[in-house]
Amino acid sequence: MTFSRCLNKRVHATRGDIAVNYSGMNMLKASSAQDREGEAFRRAMRELAGGVSVVATGAGQDRTGCTVTSFCSLSVDPPSVLVCLNHGSSTLKAMRANGAFGVSQLSANHHEVAKVFSDAKLYGAARFEWGDWRNLITGSPLLSDALAVIDCQLEDVIERHTHAIIIGRVVAVGNHEQDAALVHWRGRFETLGASRV
Ligand SMILES: Cc1cc2nc3c(=O)[nH]c(=O)nc-3n(C[C@H](O)[C@H](O)[C@H](O)COP(=O)(O)O)c2cc1C
Repeated sequence: MTFSRCLNKRVHATRGDIAVNYSGMNMLKASSAQDREGEAFRRAMRELAGGVSVVATGAGQDRTGCTVTSFCSLSVDPPSVLVCLNHGSSTLKAMRANGAFGVSQLSANHHEVAKVFSDAKLYGAARFEWGDWRNLITGSPLLSDALAVIDCQLEDVIERHTHAIIIGRVVAVGNHEQDAALVHWRGRFETLGASRV
C-alpha cells in the first residue's frame, strides 16, 4: 500500500498569499504537488462503494433532481439525513427555493435512471421521463419502485469548499422493492445483493 501525505500549507492561502509567499517556480511546484494530492485523494475515494440515490425537488415542469452517492443518514432522533451537492448544481438551487426534497434509493433496475440524472446534457423535468414518480408529504418527486424513499423538509445548508452540505428533516419514509441495490464503485455502476422474492 502506498501513502500520500496531504500538505495543508496552501489550504487557507488566497491567490494573493501565494503570490507573496512563493516565487513563480515554487508556485508551479506547489500546484503540481496539489495536483498529485488531489489525484491520490480521488483514487482513494474510488475505493469507497457508494449507494446510489436520486435527490429531487419541485413539481411538474419545475421538477429537477440529480444522481448522488453523498446521501447518508445524520441522526435517528430526530430523523435526519444529509447530502452534499456541488455549488453549480441546479438541484441545489431549486432545493433552496422549495425548502424540501425527496430521496429515492436506487435498485439495480435503475441503472438508466442513475445515468439520466447525472447527464449534463439533460436538465430539470426532462430527466423525469425515466421512471414513475410519486409524492408523499412535501410534494417532492419520489421514485415509485425505489428500494426506499425519504421525503424531507430542508433544515439547513452549510457551505463548505466547492459543495453545500444539505441537512434534511425526514417527514415521511417508504420502503418498497426488495431488489438488489445499485452501487457505484471504482467509477462503475455495480449491483449489490440479490432480489428477494
Ligand atoms: C454515481 C454518481 C454519484 C454522484 N454523486 C454526486 C454527489 O454526491 N453530489 C453532487 O453534487 N454531484 C454528484 N454527482 C454528479 C451529478 O449527478 C451531476 O453533476 C448532475 O448532472 C447534476 O445535475 P444538476 O446540475 O441538474 O443538479 C454524481 C454523479 C454520479 C454518476
